[in-house]
Amino acid sequence: MSLAADFGRTLTQHVLENQEHHPDARGQLSALLTQIGVAGKLISAQVRRAGLIEVWGATGETNVQGERVQKLDQIANDTFVEVLKRSGCVAAMASEEEESFIAVPADLAGDYVVVFDPLDGSSNIDVGVSIGTIFAIYRKRPDEAVSLNTILRRGRDLVAGGYIVYGSSTVLVYSSGQTVDCFTLDPSSGEFFLTRSDVRIPEKTSLLSTNECNSPYWPRWTSKLIDTIKSRNDGPVREVSARHIGSLVVDFHRNLVKGGLYLYPVNRRTGRGKLRLLYECNPLAFIAEVAGGRASNGEIPILDMVPTELHQRCGIIVGPKADVELAEKMVRDFPESDS
Ligand code: AHG
Ligand code: MN
Ligand code: MN
Repeated sequence: MSLAADFGRTLTQHVLENQEHHPDARGQLSALLTQIGVAGKLISAQVRRAGLIEVWGATGETNVQGERVQKLDQIANDTFVEVLKRSGCVAAMASEEEESFIAVPADLAGDYVVVFDPLDGSSNIDVGVSIGTIFAIYRKRPDEAVSLNTILRRGRDLVAGGYIVYGSSTVLVYSSGQTVDCFTLDPSSGEFFLTRSDVRIPEKTSLLSTNECNSPYWPRWTSKLIDTIKSRNDGPVREVSARHIGSLVVDFHRNLVKGGLYLYPVNRRTGRGKLRLLYECNPLAFIAEVAGGRASNGEIPILDMVPTELHQRCGIIVGPKADVELAEKMVRDFPESDS
C-alpha cells in the first residue's frame, strides 16, 4: 500500500474534489482554502517553537480592543494578511488585530472577502495551552467597490468558514456549507490529511463550557439554564461535566466532537458580550449549523445578526440544537425586566 493511501486524502485533494459540488466554486475558493492551510502551517510552526524563540510575551502595544498584543498574535496576523494578499483570491479582509479593514491592491485582488481572528486564546500562549485561528469567507458582491459594507455582512451570507487548532496536534476544520471536515497536520510530511469527515455534533450535551466566575454579571436566564443542565446529574450516572479552556475555538472544537454547550452571555451590567461577531462567533456558528447544531445570541441565530461595526461583540450560546433552543426559551422566560 502506498503512503498516500495509508494516510488518506489531503486537504488540497479534498478541496478540489468538493469544488465540483459547490455552487460558488470557480477555482478561487479552492485556491483560497488551500492557502489558508498554508498560513495555518506557518503559524503552527511558530506556535510549536513558542518559548524556544522569542514569541512569548507581549509586544508592549494594545490592540483596537484595548487588549495587550502578544508577539504571537502579531506574527499570526502578519502571516495571515500576507498569505491572503498574495493568494490573488481576496479583495478585502478584516482581522481582530487590525483597527480597519484591509483593501487588497487591485493587481492582487480576487473575488473573496475574509475575516479572521489570527490567534484565539492569547492568554494561553505562554503556558503551553491550546490556541487557534478562526476564519470566515464571503464572496464579494459583483462590481462592488470595497468599503466597510463589503465586510459588514450577516453570517448567513458566508460561503465557507473554519478554524485551525494548535493543540496536541494541529487540526484544520472547514466547511463550505455541505459537510464539516477535519484535517490533521502530519508534521513529518507537512501535509494536512483528512481525519474526520462529515462531523455531526452529538445531540446530547455531555460537556458544559463557560467561565462560571462571570456569574455575577450573567443575565438571569444563564444560572437557570446551568442549574437545569446540572440537575441532569441528579440520577445515578453523571451526564454532564464541566470543560473550559479559555480559548473559544478550542472549547468549540472539543464540544463539536464530543457534544458540548458553550456559553458566553452578555454582561448584564454593560449589556455587552465579549466575543466578536464577525470573526469569532459567525465562523463557529456556521460550522455548528452545518454540523446539525445551533448558535444563538439568545434571541436569534448568530448568523442572522446584522453587523454594524467591524469589532462588534455579542453574547453566544452554541452547541447541540435542543439545549441552545432551551437557552432561547430561558431567555424568554426570565427577562431582565423582571429582576
Ligand atoms: P482572543 O485571545 O482572540 O482575544 O480571544 C479571547 C476570548 C476567547 O478565546 C476566550 O474563550 C475568551 O476570550 C475568554 O475570556 P474570559 O477570560 O473573559 O473568559
Ligand atoms: Mn479570539
Ligand atoms: Mn485573537
